[in-house]
Amino acid sequence: MHDPGSLQLRSAPLEMSPEEFRARGHETVDRVADFLSSLAKRPVTRGESPSELRRALKDTLLPAHGLPAERLLEETATLLFEHSLFNGHPRFWGYITSSAAPIGALGDLLGSAVNPNVGSSMLSPIATEIEAQTVRWIAELMGYPAGGGLLVSGGNMANFVCFVAARRAKAPWHVREVGMNAKDAVRLRVYASKETHTWIQKAADLFGLGTDSIRWIATDPRLQMDMAALRRAITADRAAGDLPFLVVGTAGSVSTGAVDPLAEIAAIAAAENIWFHVDGAYGALAAALPDASADLKALSLADSVAVDPHKWLYAPLEAGCALVRDKEVLREAFSYHPPYYHFDSNPEDAPTNYYELGPQNSRGFRALKVWLAFRQVGRAGYERMIEDDCRLARALFDLVSREKELQACTHALSITTFRYVPGDLRASAAENAEYLDALNTALLDRLQKGGEAFVSNAVLDGRFVLRTCIVNFRTRLADIEALPEIVVRLGREVDAEKRPGRNF
Ligand SMILES: Cc1ncc(COP(=O)(O)O)c(C=O)c1O
Repeated sequence: MHDPGSLQLRSAPLEMSPEEFRARGHETVDRVADFLSSLAKRPVTRGESPSELRRALKDTLLPAHGLPAERLLEETATLLFEHSLFNGHPRFWGYITSSAAPIGALGDLLGSAVNPNVGSSMLSPIATEIEAQTVRWIAELMGYPAGGGLLVSGGNMANFVCFVAARRAKAPWHVREVGMNAKDAVRLRVYASKETHTWIQKAADLFGLGTDSIRWIATDPRLQMDMAALRRAITADRAAGDLPFLVVGTAGSVSTGAVDPLAEIAAIAAAENIWFHVDGAYGALAAALPDASADLKALSLADSVAVDPHKWLYAPLEAGCALVRDKEVLREAFSYHPPYYHFDSNPEDAPTNYYELGPQNSRGFRALKVWLAFRQVGRAGYERMIEDDCRLARALFDLVSREKELQACTHALSITTFRYVPGDLRASAAENAEYLDALNTALLDRLQKGGEAFVSNAVLDGRFVLRTCIVNFRTRLADIEALPEIVVRLGREVDAEKRPGRNF
């Protein structure tokens, strides 16, 4: 029985003595160090099914009583090391998920131990300033003249924050008070290329415009937004009485890494009084490279930019960043002052209260892992890692181009796309398009479950292709050189199963 008297000398079940914390911490750090050094020797994934995983978890009811931390941490490390997909593996190139900087893991430990609430400066004095400095450094690295910004969970949230800021800035009625139902409301229109990530649909849906308000602008053969089509859509919408309010340019599209003609979009947006937002969740940081294209560097002209530290800054998940040119627009879009907060501000030395600048109230110390990595490697370290990722993607494109049974499709930034085409179908690929789609889909499934290397897919001109995205500082040339052989071997296997009569 719980003895109320014990409150005098309270010893809560979750408390740990300093000795125990030290011992469990050292053991955990040792396990993590062993894990990280063994990554290359492990399969990228075991490709287990959800039911196999539930069995490994011994899915039971909520435990009535606890376990000693020593056993618990040992068991949990084994559970994670044996049943995870390792995006830190040198041969992980799927989607846009980076290897995580080890200093970020140590930063998370430090940050969680202190546990500042970075919603208000009073509750997180140094953490707030570290976040502000981190946001400035992110903007500085990519050459964006940010007036403000904040960290959020990822690219979707960063884009959402900018979308809401744009809606507030450009809707001519009091959108924060009456929403989209104002008597004088007209239909707001947003313009985005067909290659835009799906965040745009969620944003249009969540913030009351509806997905029909999106004008999907066609792309040219290089998958960049077609400027003539953009101009036509804006003109047609104005003629119909709608209000064009936001144009989204992408700096590094999710499928192929294409960068829209950002300078031209900026000029159209300025002439039309439309908010210009850049989704640079993946590619914006490549603007840091001295030889970045003029299109990429033109992200500096945007009213807002979304960028993901958990992509090309190699921060452990989660870390996204919303940046705005005008420092007041986030406050204007998000700030309220409830009576139960007393975060008084000294106008001479005003604190930053992040709860006023974005959707979150209580906020974790996401900035620390990003800030530590910046300080560990500096601008030079990031330029080198991002450039190496791009060079490796180019090397893969060249390797694939030389392989008879592979067809190289695209290369931009650190994304390469290609597909497996059996030798006997090479001359007749167009007539066998559907078969090649099915073959590459099945091949991708086998690759993803096989654990030798992890890639994902893109759909180009309606055709299913394989896609590698290298945001991985552990990948070396030898890893890239191994991929064509793996793909061809598995491609032949799948083809033989699908066409048993085929003569190899
Ligand atoms: C261009 C682009 N925008 C937005 C996102 C969404 O980012 P997140 O998954 O961090 O929410 C991604 C993710 O890959 C992306 O590539």
